[in-house]
Amino acid sequence: MAATKVLIAFYSRNGSTEGLAKAIAEGAEIEGAEVRLRRAREIVPADVMAKAPGWTEKAAEMNAKYAAPTAEDAEWADAIVFGTPTRFGSVTSELKAYIDSLGGLWFQGKLNGKVGSVFGSTSSMHGGNESTLLSLYNPMAHLGLIIVPLGYADPILFHAGTPYGATHVSLQDTIAPSAKELEVARFQGRRVATVARRLAIGAETFSN
Ligand SMILES: Cc1cc2nc3c(=O)[nH]c(=O)nc-3n(C[C@H](O)[C@H](O)[C@H](O)COP(=O)(O)O)c2cc1C
Repeated sequence: MAATKVLIAFYSRNGSTEGLAKAIAEGAEIEGAEVRLRRAREIVPADVMAKAPGWTEKAAEMNAKYAAPTAEDAEWADAIVFGTPTRFGSVTSELKAYIDSLGGLWFQGKLNGKVGSVFGSTSSMHGGNESTLLSLYNPMAHLGLIIVPLGYADPILFHAGTPYGATHVSLQDTIAPSAKELEVARFQGRRVATVARRLAIGAETFSN
């Protein structure tokens, strides 16, 4: 059987969401999945980015490491994991622009039945991680993705993360994801890859 294909499409400005994305990739790879890590690109003009110290430089640094996510990536994937920092309790415009670009695939029904999952980062403890993750459940439902939450399916969920997906609280971008938060993210990668593989086995079994 071919390796399970996992697309991790994230936006990150200061590295927190990127850290979770890499741990999710590790988890998926532990389960034998092939992973594409992709960073959504900025949608504001360069002069706007220049007003926020470090934004231009950090974006260039991350863009050198990760290609931009494309519709082809989403079509390729068996599972799509979206990651975003919180913006006023919801998804970033940058990641949403990528999701909106999937309209053509949605129209053709090509995303139906793929696995979908989400993760994210806020600055403050109650700054909107859960509302952000839940806000992404809406487009995932419209796209026809089979949403895979974490629940409390691993004991680490009693110590970090949320039942909706892996999270980090960056305290105004002063701290990186902790060992426990990264463990949740690795669990998410393993879980997503495992569910996607089981769905593929089921599809092979019942298509005949
Ligand atoms: C325009 C804007 C809105 C934000 N809104 C929130 C918010 O509602 N709650 C919160 O806790 N953090 C908010 N943040 C902070 C980021 O979500 C937080 O710093 C996050 O950890 C950054 O992740 P990153 O390092 O992956 O870019 C906001 C940041 C910006 C620039």
